[in-house]
Amino acid sequence: MVHERTGSRANAVVGLQWGDEGKGKLVDLLASEFDAVVRYNGGANAGHSVVVGGERYALHLVPSGILSPDVLAVIGNGVVIDPHRLLEELRTLQDRGVDTSGMVISDRAHIVMPYHKAEDALREELLAPAADRGPEQTKRVVSAIGTTRRGIGPAYADKVHRATAIRIGDLLNRAVLASKLEMICSMKNAVFESLHPGEHESFDAVQLTDEMVKLGELLAPMISDTAYLLDDLRREGKSILFEGANATMLDVDHGTYPYVTSSNSSALGIGPGSGVPPQAVTKIIGVVKAYCTRVGGGPMPTELFDDVGDAIRQRGREFGTTTGRPRRVGWLDLVALKYAAMISGATELCITLLDVLSGEPELKLAVEYEMPSGRTARFIADGILLSDATPIYETMHGFSEDITGARSFDELPPNARAYIERIEAFVGVPVRTVSVGPDREQTIRR
Ligand code: GDP
Ligand code: IMO
Ligand code: MG
Repeated sequence: MVHERTGSRANAVVGLQWGDEGKGKLVDLLASEFDAVVRYNGGANAGHSVVVGGERYALHLVPSGILSPDVLAVIGNGVVIDPHRLLEELRTLQDRGVDTSGMVISDRAHIVMPYHKAEDALREELLAPAADRGPEQTKRVVSAIGTTRRGIGPAYADKVHRATAIRIGDLLNRAVLASKLEMICSMKNAVFESLHPGEHESFDAVQLTDEMVKLGELLAPMISDTAYLLDDLRREGKSILFEGANATMLDVDHGTYPYVTSSNSSALGIGPGSGVPPQAVTKIIGVVKAYCTRVGGGPMPTELFDDVGDAIRQRGREFGTTTGRPRRVGWLDLVALKYAAMISGATELCITLLDVLSGEPELKLAVEYEMPSGRTARFIADGILLSDATPIYETMHGFSEDITGARSFDELPPNARAYIERIEAFVGVPVRTVSVGPDREQTIRR
């Protein structure tokens, strides 16, 4: 017997830079056209801002679809969940009148435990920039990643280690949880003691088991085998929107490694992170900020260290949704963007924060890199080698008009249109959406 899923539609929204491209805004805008919005990667390192009627929501673990009535909000198996943060986020949403009854969590998603957060912080301190750590370490090639310290890397590392991992489903089985935690805590405590003798937090298996069982009871009504759930939706002809967290340049395999996050945060993570097969996803919207930003360590070839960068940071309010850190700002890097569109298989682009560039007399676009070995139009997906790249720029005329009220492409000033058209031509992917402000309505569709 053939099981048809033909009436079903699966699309995705994925960041094509280093995060914070405005994915949350776009997902919120599209969510009401779908039956389910699914997170497939990352954890509370994500911070997706959504502005609805002047009200701002910051979502970290909960899919942005939660703000649309009658849309299932699914956290897939590829996400790492800090249960305290998830419950707190849900409570905050409920307090603001949001209906969270459509929330579903995969029984196979992994848990971010308190020791993961401690490990994340300790590793970052041990890797701190050479200047902070004395002359014996000044020759170090890799410095701190600049993580969000949400325990993401250590949780994914334990997932791959297998025996030392806890999944959401384990919270529902005290005996399994107690046995796992007894072994895990003794191993973690020994490692902490060797790295930071006498100064580390000690983890108690019995206490942690009690805490996790209680959290499991609160989460239980939301827990499900989401691979089957999503397949059922597809068989019923329902539509699914995947919400990427982090972004393509932070992908653990294809980003600026080692300055990346610990999941496949490009569109390539959708299959493993949700159980939905790759051929199901037919439209992939790559979200691109009209310039570049990055939070944390690692190279960004077009980074600006001057007044132009400061002005863009201020106008764009470029301070992190998750950690409040000022974001590093630079010109749009078309070499990196074309590569990211290739890796994520973007079928269309959405350019965001175009309004922020208003007032810049000229706009620069990186079209090649000068490397020690010569010029190249190819991106270098290595965070150490990429630090030697000097961008070769193309310069375009800027625009000075306030474009936040524009609602059609033709209402944009000619120089803003030319900028969009240049991006489209270089990347070879059509720009179908332009965002000119944080609100739902401040959006142009082509
Ligand atoms: P995400 O992580 O990709 O969802 O992006 P963030 O929410 O972390 O960061 C994007 C920021 O830009 C948020 O504060 C949004 O409210 C805001 N934003 C989104 N689109 C636009 C836009 O077109 N113009 C302006 N000025 N702000 C925008
Ligand atoms: P959204 O979904 C921006 C960055 C961190 C750090 C690196 C690794 O809001 O776009 P991690 O805590 O994941 O181990 O940190 O990745 N990073 C993000 N930067 N936006 C994000 O998410 C990010 N998620 C991770 O700053 O450099
Ligand atoms: Mg963000």
